[in-house]
Amino acid sequence: MDGQLRFDGRVVLVTGAGGGLGRAYALAFAERGASVVVNDLGGDFRGMGKSSSAADNVVEEIRKKGGKAVANYDSVEAGEKVVKTALEAFGKIDIVINNAGILRDRSFVRISDEDWDLVHKVHLRGSFQVTRAAWDHMKKQKFGRIIMTASASGIYGNFGQANYSAAKLGLLGLSKTLAIEGRKFNIHCNTIAPTAGSRMTETVMPPELVDALKPDYVAPLVLWLCHESCEENGSLFEVGAGWIGKLRWERTLGAIVRQKNQPMTPEAVKANWEKICDFDNASRPQTVQESTAGMIEVLNKIDSQEDISMSHTSHAVSETTSRFNRVIGYKLPQQTFSYTELEAIMYALGVGASIKNPENLKFLYEGSSDFSCLPTFGVIAAQKSMMGGGLSDVPGLNVNFAKLLHGEQYLELYKPLPRTGQLTSESVIVDILDKGSGLVILLDVYSYSGKELICFNQFSVFIVGSGGFGGKKTSNKAKETVPPPKRPPDAVLADTTSLNQAVLYRLSGDSNPLHIDPSFASLGGFDKPILHGLCSFGFSARHVLQQFGNNDASRFRAIKARFAKPVYPGQTLLTEMWKEGNRIHFQTKVQETGDIVLSNAYVDLVPTSDDLSAKVSSKDGALQSTLVFEEIGRRIKDVGKELVKKVNAVFEWNITKHGKTAAQWTIDLKNGSGELYQGPARGSADTVFTLSDEDFMEVVLGKLNPQKAFFSGKLRVKGNIMLSQKLEMILKDYAKL
Ligand code: NAI
Repeated sequence: MDGQLRFDGRVVLVTGAGGGLGRAYALAFAERGASVVVNDLGGDFRGMGKSSSAADNVVEEIRKKGGKAVANYDSVEAGEKVVKTALEAFGKIDIVINNAGILRDRSFVRISDEDWDLVHKVHLRGSFQVTRAAWDHMKKQKFGRIIMTASASGIYGNFGQANYSAAKLGLLGLSKTLAIEGRKFNIHCNTIAPTAGSRMTETVMPPELVDALKPDYVAPLVLWLCHESCEENGSLFEVGAGWIGKLRWERTLGAIVRQKNQPMTPEAVKANWEKICDFDNASRPQTVQESTAGMIEVLNKIDSQEDISMSHTSHAVSETTSRFNRVIGYKLPQQTFSYTELEAIMYALGVGASIKNPENLKFLYEGSSDFSCLPTFGVIAAQKSMMGGGLSDVPGLNVNFAKLLHGEQYLELYKPLPRTGQLTSESVIVDILDKGSGLVILLDVYSYSGKELICFNQFSVFIVGSGGFGGKKTSNKAKETVPPPKRPPDAVLADTTSLNQAVLYRLSGDSNPLHIDPSFASLGGFDKPILHGLCSFGFSARHVLQQFGNNDASRFRAIKARFAKPVYPGQTLLTEMWKEGNRIHFQTKVQETGDIVLSNAYVDLVPTSDDLSAKVSSKDGALQSTLVFEEIGRRIKDVGKELVKKVNAVFEWNITKHGKTAAQWTIDLKNGSGELYQGPARGSADTVFTLSDEDFMEVVLGKLNPQKAFFSGKLRVKGNIMLSQKLEMILKDYAKL
């Protein structure tokens, strides 16, 4: 028959094939050309007695139909003997179906040692013995298919079957490991949990069901899993009545219940119980490596926590400090922001996009073939968290919000903003700093479209007059500003804001009267209403994208700026820009006064593939990683001091090409204000990484997860492995080419 899955030339061993499911497998394999060893001890379903007739009958049945079969009457506990029959009769062994089984059902306390041991011997040890005897033959011939037979009792548990369910789930563990060890020899091992009418189920199922649930409705799955064309490996299926389903593990996102330098307590477990057990957004780890990588991430997260225990225990600490410390980690209520092209266009007008520049049409006209949202529209989606019902409602944060100034802003886009959509934002207070004259709240906002993270904002909010409470001054959570290079700017773009600029901008959601109502402005100490800081921010981001990003929104990765002074509507903004690789430093001045209004700012651009290939090919055979290290070197010059504080370690890199070390680099983030140099570490390195040039690029470009690279052997790490987590942070933040 065309397309029929055949087993001609294959030798199949089915254990416990004298009846029930095993018989159905043996017949089906033989019918499709396989030579079959029909093994059966021929006892009763409790494992008592012995007879050759069960196996003989099935062999007879197969032969009558013109198939090839031999019988074996050994117990599966004597695996070598069982396999020997296959080798002697047919010269090899290709497929093993571990199916033999017995029951010794009893409620848990009544299970005798014998009940326990016998069930384990037949199911678990038997499958081990038979499979081990076949393994080397399969390995040598680079082909093998193995089936383990588990049971719903093992997966879910079942009253009266403690011994049986334990053995049955043991088989799943065995199968999963064999799948891993056998993979490279083309030996696949899968597990089934069947349901079928047989003498084993006669005692628990009504006769009609025993008849209806035919073993023939299970056998086709076993045949498919054992076919040479089937790639499935290490999986578990439930099968019966003509239905087949695949099972997998699911794990909740869970909760971290421990804090740095503090004991982990059962109370903390209790407090987090709901979150620990919440399957929303659950993950599905598939390997021990994935599972362990999660643990390493947790260790790193805890390790990078601020050491709040110290301030909690110190008697000298003020009541205010500990009150603020309790606010750290507070999650604000989720906010959603829905928008259409109309809102995106309104925002673009608000930050000065104009058709006087024809290239701006794509930000202003939804009919443009390349219509896109300005990247900084990403702050609009997130800003609700700061406003009504946001920060001012945080319990314990009793500060005067009338004195709020927007201090700094960071925005990172993980992909261009969709042209219309609904973004859900999750916000958390990550730190509170004491700047003396005021207090700074760092608010991280993650905005998602569905489950996909679209952008990240960090609002840094200054509350005038609330400082001086004895809190810390800096935070490793803060996205730092970076001063521009000391040379004259590489480019300057100018735009005059209109008198109505703030009136227009406020339509995008920031309706603070300070920006439109003269009496409010004078209360705040200003001559007249001032422009929104985020409005000037939008102007300058647009300038950078125009000058260095070809007005292409997908080139935008991130922006950081400090709001230094107010701007009045009608003034002219000058964006001074410096290009350093794909980081464009900028500062914004008011032309009329010369005041710097946005300071120490930068935009990170995504490199174009042309950029990359041009750079790589121009170096003719040079390592791609060299470009990244050069970029890291530039960033260390900018922010080395802070990195030394945060990281405090020396990393050595061996970059290989065709298996040989092709370059060595050292990133010193321990001494002075940090340094990158070629060659091995001058002192001793805390961590040494070895990986190929290609894999290094994959990691940097976010295509290869470093943990996976480590567990798969692509990345070798010597020394302090925990520090490599900090390095991941640097690569992510600083290797943006
Ligand atoms: P069955 O009792 O008809 O078949 C099991 C066969 O294994 C018998 O022919 C028996 O003589 C043989 N056997 C027992 N001990 C042996 C030993 N030490 N060495 C060699 N052969 C031995 O039962 P059924 O239902 O066909 O079960 C087949 C497999 O499927 C078993 O592993 C069972 O645990 C499993 N299973 C069956 C379910 C069902 O609904 N039928 C449900 C879940 C699992």
